[in-house]
Amino acid sequence: MKIKNICCIGAGYVGGPTMSVLALKNPNIKVTVVDINQDRINSWNDENLGDLPIYEPGLEEIVNEARGRNLFFSTDVEKAIDEAEMIFISVNTPTKTYGKGKGMAADLKYIELCARQIAKVATTDKIVVEKSTLPVRTAQAIKDILDNTGNGVKFQILSNPEFLAEGTAVQDLLTPDRVLIGGEESEEGTIAMNSLVEIYATWIPKENILTTNVWSSELSKLVANAFLAQRVSSINAISELCEVTGADVGEVSRAIGMDSRIGPKFLKASVGFGGSCFQKDILNLVYIAKTYGLNEVADYWEQVIIMNDYQKRRFADNIVSTLYNTVSGKKITFLGWAFKKDTNDTRESAAIYVADALMNEQAEIIVYDPKVSEKRIYEDLDYLGSRSPEENRRLLKVVKDPYIASEEAHAIAILTEWDEFIEYDWKKIYDSVVKPAFVFDGRKLLDAELMSKIGFDYSSIGISKTQNK
Ligand code: UDX
Ligand code: ADP
Repeated sequence: MKIKNICCIGAGYVGGPTMSVLALKNPNIKVTVVDINQDRINSWNDENLGDLPIYEPGLEEIVNEARGRNLFFSTDVEKAIDEAEMIFISVNTPTKTYGKGKGMAADLKYIELCARQIAKVATTDKIVVEKSTLPVRTAQAIKDILDNTGNGVKFQILSNPEFLAEGTAVQDLLTPDRVLIGGEESEEGTIAMNSLVEIYATWIPKENILTTNVWSSELSKLVANAFLAQRVSSINAISELCEVTGADVGEVSRAIGMDSRIGPKFLKASVGFGGSCFQKDILNLVYIAKTYGLNEVADYWEQVIIMNDYQKRRFADNIVSTLYNTVSGKKITFLGWAFKKDTNDTRESAAIYVADALMNEQAEIIVYDPKVSEKRIYEDLDYLGSRSPEENRRLLKVVKDPYIASEEAHAIAILTEWDEFIEYDWKKIYDSVVKPAFVFDGRKLLDAELMSKIGFDYSSIGISKTQNK
C-alpha cells in the first residue's frame, strides 16, 4: 500500500524533526504535523526560521525546504486525522505524578486521548504508528480503544520507536544505525509494516530497517535507553573512585573503550544524565518488571537512577563543602542549563537539581546558557515546588553574557558541555571573580592544567584535585 498522506499528532522534539526529515525525503507524501498547542504550531510556521520551537543543528534548512511544499504544521487535528492513511502518535508520555505507579509508570492519558480522537474521526482504514516511547503492550491498549470506539473502520497498529538524540537529531534521522518497526504477525500486519518500510527506504538502506513483533519493538526502545543510561551511571560510579584514588576517569574511559567489546561511546563521566527519556524509560522498565513480580530485575535497573541522583547530589555537596561549608549569600555562576549541548531542552537536566540543592543552602545562582530561555529556567524550578516562585526569582537570576554572569562569583560550575565555554577568555574571568577562584567542572570540559596555571582552584568530575596542581 502506497501512502500519500501522513498525519503526525504532536509537534515536539520527536514529532517535529522526524516529520521534517520524512517529508524532505518523500516529496510525494503530504505530511501534516498537528498539535493542540497553538503557540508551538505558530512557531513551527514562523517566517523566521530562527524562531522554530526547538533548536536542532541543521533543522532550519530542512524545514525551509519542505515546509509549504509537502510539510505542514496545523492545529486542525481532526482534519489531518481524517485525511491521512497513516497517523503517527508522537505526544508526550511523562512519568505519572499521581495515583498508582506515581513517580514510575508512564502517564498514558495523552496517548489515550489521541486514540479516542482517531477512533471518533476516522471514516477510512488507518495505520496508526506509535512513535512516543511507551510501556510494553500499549499497542494493545490503543487497538482496544480504536476497535471498540471507532466507526467500524480497520486499524493496524505499528510500533516505530525513535532513537534520535537531541542535539544530533537531524544527523540521527538522516543516517540512523537502524529503524525499528514492530507490527502484528498477520497478513494485514505485514502489509502495514511494508508500507512504513517503503517510506523509510527512500533514504535508508533496507538492511538497516528491522521488522519485529510489536512487543519486541516496544521493549527494545526501553532497553536501548536503559543500556545507554547504565553506561553513564557505570562510568559516573567510577568517577568518584577516580577522584579519591588519583586515577583519571578520562584515561580509564579511553582504556576500557578501546576494548571492542565495550566500545568508546557513552563513557563520558558527567554531573549526571538528563533528558526526557533515560529516567522515564528506566522507571518504566522498573515498573513493568515489578508488575510481573520480577523484583530483582526491577532493583537492578533502579540502581542506574539511584546512581544518577547520587552523582547530582554529590556535585552540589562538593561545592558546599569546598566553599568552607557554606554557600549562603554566595554567588555561584552556572554555565549551562540544558541537559546536554546543542539543545534548548532542559527536561530532567542535572542543572535543575544542582541549583535546587544549592538554593536550599541559600546560595545565589546566576545562570548563563546560550540557548535556554529565562522563562524555561524558572518553569523548571517552579515545577519542583521546593519554594515559592518569588523565592526562586530572588535566589536565581538569568543573564545573557557569560562574563557578566561570572563577575564577583564565589564559584563557577559547568553544568552543560557547550563548546563555547572552552573558548572563553578564562584569564578575564579569573580577574573578575572572588578569590580563591573555584571552578567545578561537571563535564570534564576544560583543560585542567591551563585552569590551574591561570590560578583557578579547579576541580573536575573524575579527577582528583591533587592531580591538577
Ligand atoms: C537519548 C537516546 O540517546 C536516544 O537514542 C533516545 O531516542 C532518546 O534518549 P537524548 O536524551 O536526546 O537521547 O540524549 P543523549 O545523548 O542520549 O544524552 C542523555 C544524557 O546523558 C545527557 O544528559 C548527556 O549529557 C548524558 N551523557 C551521555 C553523559 O553524561 N555521558 C555520556 O557519555 C553520554
Ligand atoms: P517529545 O519529546 O516526546 O516530542 P514534547 O513534549 O516535546 O515530547 O512534544 C509532545 C507534543 O504533543 C506537545 O507539543 C503537546 O502539545 C502535543 N500533544 C499532547 N497531546 C496531544 C493531543 N491529544 N493532540 C495533539 N497534540 C498533543
